Amino acid sequence: RFPDRYALSDTGVQAAEWLKLQVETIAKNAGRSDLSVRFVKTGSSYKQPSVVATIAGTEPGAEGVVIGGHMDTLSNNKPGADDDGSGSVTVLETARVILNSGMKFKRPLHFVWYAAEEQGLVGSQYVVSDFVAQKIPVRGVLQLDMTGYQYQNDERMWIMDDYVDESLSKFVNDLIVKYVGAPIGHSKCGYACSDHASWNRKGFKAAMPFEAQMNLDNPNIHTRDDTREGMSLSHMVKFSKLAIAFATELAEPVATK
Ligand code: BES
Ligand code: ZN
Repeated sequence: RFPDRYALSDTGVQAAEWLKLQVETIAKNAGRSDLSVRFVKTGSSYKQPSVVATIAGTEPGAEGVVIGGHMDTLSNNKPGADDDGSGSVTVLETARVILNSGMKFKRPLHFVWYAAEEQGLVGSQYVVSDFVAQKIPVRGVLQLDMTGYQYQNDERMWIMDDYVDESLSKFVNDLIVKYVGAPIGHSKCGYACSDHASWNRKGFKAAMPFEAQMNLDNPNIHTRDDTREGMSLSHMVKFSKLAIAFATELAEPVATK
């Protein structure tokens, strides 16, 4: 219901606060005390911080798993339902399912909502710098930017093949086959189109599943018409399933009673 989630606006900040409260409330209601949520500042010229929600791992110092999307939109009545409300709630749904499952993992899971992506991947650059500065090790990064638009009922899930790690993308491909059962297509942005590129540039392994083939994706992004009416919930659910598989396969579940 925010008119926009622009990184330089109060509603952009409120969106970050809202996401933090949602994931904290989910953890609290699930009786979990192993979630910690923090803001990562987006330099000094952007009001909106990124949100990092971490489920602690049971093995000290283990490399973690990052699952993220950007929360921001452009300014002035830009609902950003698909770009990237869809990825943002795919991340939140993934966290909700995992927190309620009772599963515990050897490795930490970091759920990230990036600020100021639309300003030139700005928030994610600060998040990556923060992980590097704090020496927080990362095993793999899943970027969810646009999961809601289904082109002509095409069931395919797409994998973007540039600014990514080839072996991690192959792993994502195999997870879709094994756990989602959706047909798959491969495509390319052709430029550093989202936050996976910020990780990729600093040498981290990242992958980016995507809603549609490049150029057959949602034509309404960055306009006032990027609304929920254009979203396919059944398409989005497939991306949550994939992200849950990514987390559980990479973070190494530990036996719980
Ligand atoms: N979600 C888009 C990226 C995108 C759009 C990927 C269409 C595939 C198809 C992202 O939010 C975005 O708008 N990125 C910018 C570049 C960024 C560096 C500001 C873009 O694509 O212009
Ligand atoms: Zn965008």
